[in-house]
Amino acid sequence: MKGMLAIVVTWLCIAQWTVSAAVTPVGAPSASMTHLIMPTAEGPAAAEASDGGYTAEALADFVDELPGWGKPNFDLYSGYITVNESAGRALFYAFAESYTDAHSKPLVLWLNGGPGCSSLASGFMSELGPFYPTANGKLKKNTYSWTEAANIIFLESPAFVGWSYSNTTSDATVGDARTAKDALNFLLGFLDRFPVYEGRPFWIAGESYGGHYVPNLALAVAKYNADKDGIPKINFKGFLVGNAWTDADEDNKGAVEFWHSHALISDTTRDGLMQKCNFSRIGPLQVEAVSSDTKSCDEYVNDSQTESGFANGGINIYDIYADVCSPERASLEARQFAKVLGATRALTEGESSQGGTASPFQTMALAAMVSLPEPGKYDPCIDNKVEQYFNRPDVQRAFHANSSEHTLPWAWKGCSDYVNYSREDLLSSMLPVYRELLTHNLQILVYSGDVDAIVPVTGTRRWLRRLKLPVVRSWQPWRSATGQIGGYFERYAGLTFVTIRDAGHMVPYTQPERASFIFSKWVVEGSNELASTEAFLS
Ligand SMILES: *[C@@H]1O[C@H](CO)[C@@H](O)[C@H](O)[C@H]1NC(C)=O
Ligand SMILES: *[C@@H]1O[C@H](CO)[C@@H](O)[C@H](O)[C@H]1NC(C)=O
Ligand SMILES: *[C@@H]1O[C@H](CO)[C@@H](O)[C@H](O)[C@H]1NC(C)=O
Ligand SMILES: *[C@@H]1O[C@H](CO)[C@@H](O)[C@H](O)[C@H]1NC(C)=O
Ligand SMILES: *[C@@H]1O[C@H](CO)[C@@H](O)[C@H](O)[C@H]1NC(C)=O
Ligand SMILES: *[C@@H]1O[C@H](CO)[C@@H](O)[C@H](O)[C@H]1NC(C)=O
Repeated sequence: MKGMLAIVVTWLCIAQWTVSAAVTPVGAPSASMTHLIMPTAEGPAAAEASDGGYTAEALADFVDELPGWGKPNFDLYSGYITVNESAGRALFYAFAESYTDAHSKPLVLWLNGGPGCSSLASGFMSELGPFYPTANGKLKKNTYSWTEAANIIFLESPAFVGWSYSNTTSDATVGDARTAKDALNFLLGFLDRFPVYEGRPFWIAGESYGGHYVPNLALAVAKYNADKDGIPKINFKGFLVGNAWTDADEDNKGAVEFWHSHALISDTTRDGLMQKCNFSRIGPLQVEAVSSDTKSCDEYVNDSQTESGFANGGINIYDIYADVCSPERASLEARQFAKVLGATRALTEGESSQGGTASPFQTMALAAMVSLPEPGKYDPCIDNKVEQYFNRPDVQRAFHANSSEHTLPWAWKGCSDYVNYSREDLLSSMLPVYRELLTHNLQILVYSGDVDAIVPVTGTRRWLRRLKLPVVRSWQPWRSATGQIGGYFERYAGLTFVTIRDAGHMVPYTQPERASFIFSKWVVEGSNELASTEAFLS
């Protein structure tokens, strides 16, 4: 469950700020790396299309067998694609083709957020991919994998996330612009390696801080296509984003409303936050109070975390009615959040002094007393299992990652310790980007799990209103294949909004049936030139 944003004191796994000077990948190129091709805009770099549109480089990325599973019952590829040759920057991907009829199904690129969190850890292994990890190092099938409906690329972005890296240490300092540019270069390199996918209906999807990654990449792709004559090799249809961090001011206010309306904080604290905080400056309700009298924004933030139970890990901020992972993980995650935007000073103090002042996030007494959830239910500890799995040398070999000739000198982590992401970009509003995207005739789906407390549905509705789009189909429930109401939707000119009932921040994991229903309807119908998304949920 990384990959989420954690605002208000908490954010998603926003990775910590510091970049260690030791981030220098060592070693010589691996055999597979010598195949790296610099993607160019002007068509397949060198590689001849062979084997029905799979280049030799693609075939070298084929994964024969996965530890804990065996031979996949679908075609899986993974490896590196160089996105910037002079800097020596390469992004790692896993590409899961659909189980059947892959060649008639759309292509989707999935991005988790953080910023700094892994799309393999979350998207691929614990949300919408073909597997979930289990405690004994085995994988089990995800019966609601989105790869039923589409061919999905899981991209580790930006460099220094997962197995992605750069030979230029300073590349660890990064923001939205380079992240989007590298992702576009990746996509062009991918299509060079897998020419069979050129012209295939293409979608971008993501969640959380993907609220920045996805629209930014969408705009980069739309502009790339607009600059080309003839039939674009990227047949770009549109994108979908879930619980998307979009506008600090609206998302933060929405979070306070959500906490208050879901009986997580007191009236006094709600009022204090609303009066004292400058919501567009906080990465999480942090620091800068609007006025200096009596109690500050900072203190109200502290109160909100204590009152709600977020502070000691007692409430799962990603899914308020789900269990928490006890005890270590919740604490680790909460502390990671606190680091995010250099969160509230009060909340991060004492963290470095092991066993020093007990900050709220170190008080794990409550979480330590809770028992693990029933088997088969949402597993709040899944991150631990993923991290163990990807740290296995046999798993790394199977994925063609971190080879012995080119070894990364750090352990695999779900959220990178190295990425130093621009705070300005984190706090910047994506609304201007949406306004521009709306002129490109794309199919845009904004979805929201309605029990997420980190980037809640209330904040999403606030920023959607700011776009002032005319309603073309008014608010109404939708039903999934089970016949139960799966949530609500409202269609605006150029954009559709969908809620997923009883889903947390990681919608595909917390409500798999509803999420896969919406995903396949949107992407399958939207990829069909004739029907288009006009018919969506009708
Ligand atoms: C992180 O990025 C900021 C600029 O955004 C820079 O001032 C700072 O030095 C960077 N930190 C490290 C450790 O590179
Ligand atoms: C990074 O440097 C190593 C060692 O020189 C080299 O093998 C590798 O190809 C470089 N990576 C990229 C993406 O250029
Ligand atoms: C490659 O990345 C470096 C930063 O590491 C940047 O200065 C340079 O402009 C990039 N090259 C291209 C072609 O984008
Ligand atoms: C909140 O912060 C923003 C960005 O720094 C600033 O432009 C704005 O004036 C601040 N608002 C108030 C009420 O202080
Ligand atoms: C934060 O709240 C805790 C618990 O109420 C309290 O002990 C601590 O002093 C508070 N810190 C600040 C800076 O208000
Ligand atoms: C890369 O491999 C080395 C050597 O096996 C290992 O120590 C390191 O943890 C690995 N790093 C990653 C990111 O997989």
